[in-house]
Amino acid sequence: MDRRRKIDIILLLLGLLGVLLAVGAQVRLIQLKSGAVSSGPVAGARVGGPFTLIDHVGAARDESMIAGRYAMIYFGFTYCPAICPTELQKMARAMDDAGPAGESIVPVFVSIDPERDTPEVMARYVAQFHPRLIGLTGTQEQVDVAAEAYKVFARKAEDPSLSEYTMDHTSYIYFIGPDGTLLGIYGLTSTPAEIAADIQRFVKS
Ligand code: NI
Repeated sequence: MDRRRKIDIILLLLGLLGVLLAVGAQVRLIQLKSGAVSSGPVAGARVGGPFTLIDHVGAARDESMIAGRYAMIYFGFTYCPAICPTELQKMARAMDDAGPAGESIVPVFVSIDPERDTPEVMARYVAQFHPRLIGLTGTQEQVDVAAEAYKVFARKAEDPSLSEYTMDHTSYIYFIGPDGTLLGIYGLTSTPAEIAADIQRFVKS
């Protein structure tokens, strides 16, 4: 095993530890300091599970929407000032840059702020990023179930300097294969080029 490969594996383990910490220790926001965490398939790791949500056109959706498909899933909220839009842009850019392989991806944005993110709000928001991006929201209970399945931590945070509340939340793009295998996890320092390369590597037409 060469040094580079060792470093990749250490970063991957640190990333997975970060996901666990976000849930367990309720840290405010996990930031990966060391670049991309993807060196998948992330051996044996799984995220996801049953959920029932409402999409941005008001239709009921559940986990069958990604069964047998390649999916990229990101949890966030539309009022997020910087991180969510940046990550959604990154996801959209990576899919487009991956060419035909990118067209196989089902891109999904799940709100962790259903109080403000109604289907109508989600419809306007997802259209800004990618024509195929599916926005999902629901009741607080439905969103909680989905967030727990994907090991996403989220909570409301009051900031005295802002008139509106904000949300603390885990920020990762998950790349999931047709059988539910986690193929990659991308943090704040991952680039569209890295994600696009993974899409081309993993997607089999
Ligand atoms: Ni955010």
